[in-house]
Amino acid sequence: YWDHFDLLQYQRFWCPSVFIHGIIAFQKHFQALDSDIMLITFPKSGTTWLKALVYTIVNRSRHGLESSPLLSINPHELVPFIDAHLYTQNQSPDLEDFPTPRIFATHMPYASLPLSILNTNCRIIYLCRNPLDQFISEWHFFHRVQHTQTTSTHSLDEVFEKICQGIQSFGPYWEHILGFWKASLEQPNKILFLKYEDLKEDNVLYIKKIADFLGCPFSEEEVIQGVVEEMSKFCSFENMKNLEVNKSGRMMGHGPEYNIYFRKGEVGDWKNYLTPQMSECLEKLMEEKLDGSSLTFKK
Ligand code: PPS
Repeated sequence: YWDHFDLLQYQRFWCPSVFIHGIIAFQKHFQALDSDIMLITFPKSGTTWLKALVYTIVNRSRHGLESSPLLSINPHELVPFIDAHLYTQNQSPDLEDFPTPRIFATHMPYASLPLSILNTNCRIIYLCRNPLDQFISEWHFFHRVQHTQTTSTHSLDEVFEKICQGIQSFGPYWEHILGFWKASLEQPNKILFLKYEDLKEDNVLYIKKIADFLGCPFSEEEVIQGVVEEMSKFCSFENMKNLEVNKSGRMMGHGPEYNIYFRKGEVGDWKNYLTPQMSECLEKLMEEKLDGSSLTFKK
Protein backbone atom coordinates (compact mmCIF):
# COMPACT_ATOMS: atom_id res chain seq x y z
CA TYR A 1 0.00 0.00 0.00
CA TRP A 2 1.72 3.17 -1.20
CA ASP A 3 0.45 6.53 -0.07
CA HIS A 4 2.05 9.92 0.50
CA PHE A 5 0.87 10.01 4.06
CA ASP A 6 1.02 6.41 5.16
CA LEU A 7 4.00 7.34 7.33
CA LEU A 8 5.30 6.46 10.77
CA GLN A 9 7.51 8.67 12.86
CA TYR A 10 10.62 6.53 13.41
CA GLN A 11 13.96 7.74 14.80
CA ARG A 12 13.20 11.35 13.93
CA PHE A 13 12.22 10.73 10.33
CA TRP A 14 8.99 9.91 8.50
CA CYS A 15 9.18 6.28 7.50
CA PRO A 16 6.72 4.91 4.92
CA SER A 17 4.91 2.14 6.73
CA VAL A 18 5.59 -0.26 3.81
CA PHE A 19 9.31 0.09 4.57
CA ILE A 20 9.41 -0.10 8.35
CA HIS A 21 10.06 -3.85 8.71
CA GLY A 22 12.79 -3.71 6.09
CA ILE A 23 14.42 -0.77 7.80
CA ILE A 24 14.46 -2.51 11.15
CA ALA A 25 15.89 -5.66 9.52
CA PHE A 26 18.55 -3.52 7.83
CA GLN A 27 19.56 -1.90 11.11
CA LYS A 28 19.61 -5.21 12.93
CA HIS A 29 21.16 -7.60 10.45
CA PHE A 30 23.22 -5.78 7.87
CA GLN A 31 26.97 -6.34 8.04
CA ALA A 32 28.84 -4.01 5.73
CA LEU A 33 32.07 -5.08 4.04
CA ASP A 34 34.97 -2.72 3.39
CA SER A 35 34.40 -3.18 -0.32
CA ASP A 36 30.66 -2.33 -0.23
CA ILE A 37 29.23 0.64 -2.07
CA MET A 38 26.06 2.19 -0.61
CA LEU A 39 23.98 4.42 -2.84
CA ILE A 40 21.94 6.62 -0.56
CA THR A 41 19.39 9.07 -1.87
CA PHE A 42 16.46 11.16 -0.89
CA PRO A 43 13.53 9.57 -2.78
CA LYS A 44 12.92 10.87 -6.30
CA SER A 45 16.36 12.38 -6.59
CA GLY A 46 17.68 10.11 -9.35
CA THR A 47 18.20 6.80 -7.53
CA THR A 48 17.37 4.69 -10.60
CA TRP A 49 19.88 6.68 -12.64
CA LEU A 50 22.61 6.46 -9.99
CA LYS A 51 22.11 2.70 -9.77
CA ALA A 52 22.62 2.33 -13.53
CA LEU A 53 25.65 4.64 -13.55
CA VAL A 54 27.50 3.10 -10.61
CA TYR A 55 26.73 -0.46 -11.72
CA THR A 56 28.10 0.34 -15.17
CA ILE A 57 31.23 2.12 -13.91
CA VAL A 58 32.16 -0.57 -11.40
CA ASN A 59 31.50 -3.56 -13.66
CA ARG A 60 33.00 -2.16 -16.86
CA SER A 61 35.81 -4.70 -16.99
CA ARG A 62 33.30 -7.58 -16.59
CA HIS A 63 31.07 -6.62 -19.49
CA GLY A 64 30.98 -4.01 -22.20
CA LEU A 65 27.83 -1.98 -22.79
CA GLU A 66 26.66 -4.30 -25.57
CA SER A 67 26.41 -7.15 -23.07
CA SER A 68 25.42 -5.13 -20.00
CA PRO A 69 23.02 -6.85 -17.60
CA LEU A 70 21.13 -3.53 -17.58
CA LEU A 71 19.83 -4.45 -21.03
CA SER A 72 17.79 -7.25 -19.53
CA ILE A 73 17.51 -6.50 -15.80
CA ASN A 74 15.96 -3.41 -14.20
CA PRO A 75 18.43 -1.24 -12.21
CA HIS A 76 16.37 -1.80 -9.04
CA GLU A 77 16.94 -5.55 -9.32
CA LEU A 78 20.65 -5.30 -10.05
CA VAL A 79 21.13 -2.85 -7.19
CA PRO A 80 18.39 -3.59 -4.66
CA PHE A 81 17.10 -1.40 -1.88
CA ILE A 82 18.84 -3.35 0.86
CA ASP A 83 16.15 -2.77 3.48
CA ALA A 84 13.34 -4.13 1.32
CA HIS A 85 15.61 -6.93 0.11
CA LEU A 86 16.49 -8.05 3.65
CA TYR A 87 12.85 -8.05 4.64
CA THR A 88 11.52 -9.98 1.67
CA GLN A 89 14.36 -12.48 1.95
CA ASN A 90 13.55 -13.21 5.58
CA GLN A 91 16.12 -10.94 7.14
CA SER A 92 19.24 -12.96 6.54
CA PRO A 93 19.45 -13.51 2.81
CA ASP A 94 22.55 -14.82 1.20
CA LEU A 95 24.21 -11.53 0.36
CA GLU A 96 27.29 -13.54 -0.58
CA ASP A 97 25.70 -14.07 -3.98
CA PHE A 98 26.36 -10.46 -4.84
CA PRO A 99 29.53 -9.92 -6.85
CA THR A 100 32.25 -7.83 -5.21
CA PRO A 101 31.99 -4.95 -4.77
CA ARG A 102 28.41 -5.31 -3.59
CA ILE A 103 26.27 -2.31 -4.49
CA PHE A 104 23.17 -1.60 -2.41
CA ALA A 105 20.78 1.31 -2.10
CA THR A 106 18.71 2.87 0.63
CA HIS A 107 16.86 6.10 1.46
CA MET A 108 17.78 5.97 5.16
CA PRO A 109 18.94 9.17 6.85
CA TYR A 110 22.56 9.32 8.02
CA ALA A 111 21.70 9.20 11.72
CA SER A 112 19.81 5.90 11.33
CA LEU A 113 22.33 3.96 9.24
CA PRO A 114 23.50 0.61 10.63
CA LEU A 115 26.74 1.09 12.56
CA SER A 116 28.70 -1.30 10.38
CA ILE A 117 28.30 1.12 7.46
CA LEU A 118 29.95 3.84 9.49
CA ASN A 119 32.58 1.62 11.10
CA THR A 120 33.90 -0.09 7.98
CA ASN A 121 35.62 1.37 4.94
CA CYS A 122 32.49 0.87 2.89
CA ARG A 123 31.81 3.91 0.74
CA ILE A 124 28.69 6.01 0.40
CA ILE A 125 27.52 7.89 -2.66
CA TYR A 126 24.74 10.29 -1.72
CA LEU A 127 22.46 11.90 -4.30
CA CYS A 128 19.88 14.62 -3.75
CA ARG A 129 17.93 17.02 -5.93
CA ASN A 130 16.56 20.54 -5.69
CA PRO A 131 13.48 20.44 -3.44
CA LEU A 132 11.08 21.88 -6.04
CA ASP A 133 11.71 19.18 -8.64
CA GLN A 134 11.92 16.53 -5.94
CA PHE A 135 8.48 17.50 -4.74
CA ILE A 136 6.93 17.46 -8.22
CA SER A 137 8.55 14.13 -9.02
CA GLU A 138 7.27 12.62 -5.77
CA TRP A 139 3.79 13.99 -6.30
CA HIS A 140 3.60 12.45 -9.77
CA PHE A 141 4.97 9.18 -8.50
CA PHE A 142 2.31 8.72 -5.84
CA HIS A 143 -0.36 9.97 -8.20
CA ARG A 144 0.54 7.31 -10.72
CA VAL A 145 0.91 4.57 -8.13
CA GLN A 146 -2.44 5.43 -6.59
CA HIS A 147 -4.20 5.13 -9.91
CA THR A 148 -3.45 1.46 -9.72
CA GLN A 149 -4.68 1.20 -6.13
CA THR A 150 -8.04 1.83 -4.60
CA THR A 151 -6.87 4.78 -2.50
CA SER A 152 -7.80 8.34 -3.41
CA THR A 153 -5.13 10.71 -4.66
CA HIS A 154 -4.03 13.81 -2.79
CA SER A 155 -4.05 17.26 -4.35
CA LEU A 156 -0.84 19.13 -5.07
CA ASP A 157 -1.78 21.77 -2.46
CA GLU A 158 -2.39 19.17 0.20
CA VAL A 159 0.94 17.42 -0.38
CA PHE A 160 2.76 20.74 -0.62
CA GLU A 161 1.55 21.81 2.77
CA LYS A 162 2.72 18.59 4.40
CA ILE A 163 6.10 18.76 2.70
CA CYS A 164 6.61 22.29 4.04
CA GLN A 165 6.11 20.80 7.50
CA GLY A 166 8.73 18.16 6.74
CA ILE A 167 6.11 15.42 6.42
CA GLN A 168 7.05 13.20 3.49
CA SER A 169 8.77 9.84 2.91
CA PHE A 170 12.15 9.91 4.68
CA GLY A 171 11.63 13.61 5.47
CA PRO A 172 12.18 16.19 6.64
CA TYR A 173 14.06 16.68 3.38
CA TRP A 174 16.42 19.31 4.79
CA GLU A 175 17.47 17.10 7.70
CA HIS A 176 18.22 14.23 5.31
CA ILE A 177 20.42 16.30 3.02
CA LEU A 178 22.13 18.17 5.85
CA GLY A 179 22.96 14.92 7.64
CA PHE A 180 24.88 13.64 4.61
CA TRP A 181 26.26 17.06 3.66
CA LYS A 182 27.89 17.56 7.05
CA ALA A 183 29.18 13.98 7.16
CA SER A 184 30.63 14.33 3.65
CA LEU A 185 32.55 17.45 4.68
CA GLU A 186 34.03 15.56 7.61
CA GLN A 187 34.73 12.35 5.66
CA PRO A 188 35.24 13.24 2.01
CA ASN A 189 36.91 9.90 1.26
CA LYS A 190 33.94 7.98 2.63
CA ILE A 191 31.00 10.01 1.34
CA LEU A 192 30.63 11.51 -2.11
CA PHE A 193 27.84 14.09 -2.10
CA LEU A 194 26.14 14.56 -5.48
CA LYS A 195 23.28 16.63 -6.87
CA TYR A 196 20.94 15.60 -9.70
CA GLU A 197 21.33 18.99 -11.40
CA ASP A 198 25.13 18.62 -11.59
CA LEU A 199 24.83 15.12 -13.01
CA LYS A 200 22.50 16.49 -15.67
CA GLU A 201 24.73 19.44 -16.50
CA ASP A 202 28.02 17.60 -16.90
CA ASN A 203 27.38 13.89 -16.73
CA VAL A 204 30.77 12.89 -18.12
CA LEU A 205 32.63 14.88 -15.45
CA TYR A 206 30.60 13.25 -12.67
CA ILE A 207 31.02 9.75 -14.06
CA LYS A 208 34.76 10.37 -13.82
CA LYS A 209 34.39 11.75 -10.30
CA ILE A 210 32.43 8.67 -9.22
CA ALA A 211 35.07 6.35 -10.72
CA ASP A 212 37.87 8.29 -8.99
CA PHE A 213 36.02 8.22 -5.68
CA LEU A 214 35.49 4.46 -5.92
CA GLY A 215 39.14 3.85 -6.70
CA CYS A 216 38.56 2.70 -10.28
CA PRO A 217 39.53 5.77 -12.34
CA PHE A 218 39.27 5.71 -16.11
CA SER A 219 42.55 5.10 -17.89
CA GLU A 220 43.80 7.56 -20.47
CA GLU A 221 43.06 5.00 -23.11
CA GLU A 222 39.45 4.65 -21.96
CA VAL A 223 39.04 8.41 -22.04
CA ILE A 224 40.50 8.65 -25.55
CA GLN A 225 38.24 5.84 -26.74
CA GLY A 226 35.19 7.76 -25.50
CA VAL A 227 34.17 5.10 -22.97
CA VAL A 228 32.87 7.70 -20.53
CA GLU A 229 30.65 9.41 -23.11
CA GLU A 230 29.26 6.04 -24.15
CA MET A 231 28.42 5.16 -20.56
CA SER A 232 26.71 8.48 -20.11
CA LYS A 233 24.55 7.87 -23.18
CA PHE A 234 23.83 4.31 -22.15
CA CYS A 235 22.55 5.37 -18.70
CA SER A 236 20.70 8.43 -20.00
CA PHE A 237 17.03 8.91 -19.32
CA GLU A 238 16.10 8.42 -22.98
CA ASN A 239 18.01 5.18 -23.34
CA MET A 240 16.95 3.66 -20.00
CA LYS A 241 13.30 4.64 -20.39
CA ASN A 242 13.11 2.98 -23.79
CA LEU A 243 14.61 -0.36 -22.84
CA GLU A 244 11.91 -3.02 -22.91
CA VAL A 245 13.01 -4.30 -19.51
CA ASN A 246 12.21 -0.95 -17.90
CA LYS A 247 8.75 -0.70 -19.42
CA SER A 248 7.25 -3.69 -17.66
CA GLY A 249 7.59 -5.47 -14.35
CA ARG A 250 7.18 -4.16 -10.83
CA MET A 251 9.35 -3.20 -7.90
CA MET A 252 9.80 -6.30 -5.67
CA GLY A 253 7.30 -8.12 -7.88
CA HIS A 254 4.24 -6.39 -6.43
CA GLY A 255 5.27 -2.74 -5.87
CA PRO A 256 5.03 0.19 -8.30
CA GLU A 257 5.42 -0.54 -12.01
CA TYR A 258 8.97 0.04 -13.21
CA ASN A 259 7.88 2.46 -15.93
CA ILE A 260 6.78 4.91 -13.20
CA TYR A 261 10.45 5.41 -12.30
CA PHE A 262 11.00 7.11 -15.67
CA ARG A 263 8.80 10.15 -16.07
CA LYS A 264 10.46 13.26 -17.50
CA GLY A 265 14.02 13.28 -16.21
CA GLU A 266 14.56 17.04 -16.41
CA VAL A 267 15.63 19.96 -14.26
CA GLY A 268 13.03 22.69 -13.73
CA ASP A 269 9.78 20.81 -14.36
CA TRP A 270 8.45 22.41 -11.16
CA LYS A 271 7.85 25.59 -13.19
CA ASN A 272 4.97 23.79 -14.90
CA TYR A 273 3.20 23.04 -11.62
CA LEU A 274 4.02 25.41 -8.77
CA THR A 275 2.45 28.82 -8.37
CA PRO A 276 4.91 31.67 -7.72
CA GLN A 277 3.69 31.73 -4.12
CA MET A 278 4.42 28.05 -3.67
CA SER A 279 7.92 28.19 -5.12
CA GLU A 280 8.77 31.32 -3.13
CA CYS A 281 7.51 29.72 0.02
CA LEU A 282 9.56 26.54 -0.47
CA GLU A 283 12.66 28.46 -1.50
CA LYS A 284 12.43 30.67 1.57
CA LEU A 285 11.98 27.67 3.81
CA MET A 286 15.04 26.00 2.28
CA GLU A 287 17.12 29.13 2.68
CA GLU A 288 16.20 29.21 6.32
CA LYS A 289 16.90 25.51 6.89
CA LEU A 290 20.19 25.44 4.97
CA ASP A 291 21.42 28.75 6.37
CA GLY A 292 25.12 28.60 7.21
CA SER A 293 25.61 25.17 5.62
CA SER A 294 27.11 26.38 2.29
CA LEU A 295 24.79 23.94 0.53
CA THR A 296 22.91 25.40 -2.45
CA PHE A 297 20.88 24.09 -5.40
CA LYS A 298 20.49 24.97 -9.04
CA LYS A 299 16.88 24.94 -10.18
S1 PPS B 1 13.08 6.28 -6.27
O1 PPS B 1 11.71 5.81 -6.04
O2 PPS B 1 13.53 7.14 -5.16
O3 PPS B 1 14.00 5.19 -6.55
O4 PPS B 1 13.00 7.21 -7.58
P1 PPS B 1 14.24 7.93 -8.26
O5 PPS B 1 14.84 7.06 -9.28
O6 PPS B 1 15.13 8.51 -7.22
O7 PPS B 1 13.58 9.19 -8.95
C1 PPS B 1 12.85 9.14 -10.15
C2 PPS B 1 13.20 10.41 -10.91
O8 PPS B 1 14.44 10.23 -11.59
C3 PPS B 1 14.24 10.37 -13.01
N1 PPS B 1 15.13 9.46 -13.72
C4 PPS B 1 16.20 9.90 -14.45
N2 PPS B 1 16.70 11.12 -14.66
C5 PPS B 1 17.80 11.21 -15.45
N3 PPS B 1 18.39 10.15 -16.02
C6 PPS B 1 17.92 8.90 -15.84
N4 PPS B 1 18.51 7.87 -16.42
C7 PPS B 1 16.77 8.74 -15.01
N5 PPS B 1 16.04 7.66 -14.62
C8 PPS B 1 15.06 8.12 -13.84
C9 PPS B 1 12.77 10.01 -13.16
O9 PPS B 1 12.28 10.43 -14.41
C10 PPS B 1 12.17 10.73 -11.97
O10 PPS B 1 12.19 12.15 -12.11
P2 PPS B 1 10.99 12.97 -12.75
O11 PPS B 1 11.31 14.42 -12.52
O12 PPS B 1 9.74 12.58 -12.06
O13 PPS B 1 10.97 12.65 -14.22
